[in-house]
Amino acid sequence: MLKVLNIVGARPNFMKVAPIYAKMKRRPEEFAPLIVHTGQHYDAAMSDAFFDDLGMPKPDVYLGVGSGSHAVQTAKIMTEFEPVILREKPDWVLVVGDVNSTIACALVCSKLGVKVAHVEAGLRSGDRSMPEEINRILTDAISDLLLTTSQDADENLRREGIPPEKIRFVGNVMIDSLLDHMKVAEHSTVREEMGVEGKDYAVLTLHRPSNVDDRETFSGIVDALVTIAERLPIVFPVHPRTRAKIEEFGFGERIAAADIRLVEPLGYLDFMRLYSGARLVLTDSGGLQEETTALGIPCLTLRENTERPITIELGTNILVGTDRNKIEQIALDVLSNPTSDQNATIPPLWDGKAAGRICDELLK
Ligand code: UD1
Repeated sequence: MLKVLNIVGARPNFMKVAPIYAKMKRRPEEFAPLIVHTGQHYDAAMSDAFFDDLGMPKPDVYLGVGSGSHAVQTAKIMTEFEPVILREKPDWVLVVGDVNSTIACALVCSKLGVKVAHVEAGLRSGDRSMPEEINRILTDAISDLLLTTSQDADENLRREGIPPEKIRFVGNVMIDSLLDHMKVAEHSTVREEMGVEGKDYAVLTLHRPSNVDDRETFSGIVDALVTIAERLPIVFPVHPRTRAKIEEFGFGERIAAADIRLVEPLGYLDFMRLYSGARLVLTDSGGLQEETTALGIPCLTLRENTERPITIELGTNILVGTDRNKIEQIALDVLSNPTSDQNATIPPLWDGKAAGRICDELLK
């Protein structure tokens, strides 16, 4: 029987751990799973809502670290997590994604000789100015088992000298969650609440420091959004960081004057219901590039690079950067060409069965 500590910290972690934890719970002879929540995200809308929607029990351990600079947040997670490892003595610690909680917990384990499995290993944007890229490279370098979502990730890991026997292509566990919850999300009334049911609309999310912390970049993006909103309404669930920046930069009036509907961050099911009916998604999120690819929805990624190239090669994603004219032009092109995503396919092993394969690999 393997005792596994499953780490969650920030919003994009919850829907990756949920299906793995559920699968382990269904195999009690083989697994004794626990959930450790670092508390990196703590707002009800950024955390609790996801536990409810995903049917996850309350975390077994809550570290309550909260916000801070990268150094403060990472260090706090490490000091709070170390005693948990010493007390629980797990066989494996499972970390997902690329947030500060991922590297902090992996680093604690590697120093204590506890085995770490990294889910979503090997993704690389090639852009080391992104905090997530540093977290990815370092977590992969010290993990014992590297579980990948696509074969380009295997390639990246081999190139960095990771022994091939540590690398396992298991597919995309985020799509397990998506497929598991599609049906129940149909009960959400979010489209009616936003006034977009039965209409063409776009969905926007934006929270990367490189997009929202720089006034000029953010202002250019707002200009492009105002133009796109002349064609169709844009529903914009706003991350707390972004909300603060809109206020600081005084962009509120420009946004309010256009048909851009600012709403609080949505829960997992409401958000799925919202983007799954969208004509177009605009985002700088990583996960949403994958979810739109899985559903065949056109996605414009407002970044200069992506660690998820498969969503461009096979899927519906287009990298548009942050140049105002480019965003406008490509968005309007996609909107006037309803068949633009017809040749898109779903990447291999994004089949809703990744959690089972992850469990099997841990046992091996
Ligand atoms: C983190 C991840 C990012 C991920 C994102 C999803 C890192 C380095 N970044 O970024 O990869 O895409 O989560 O949302 O781990 N805040 C709140 N309430 C919360 C959480 C945050 O108000 O529950 C505010 C605080 O002002 C905080 C700021 O958001 O300082 C940033 O939070 P933080 O966890 O540092 O990073 P994110 O931008 O959320």
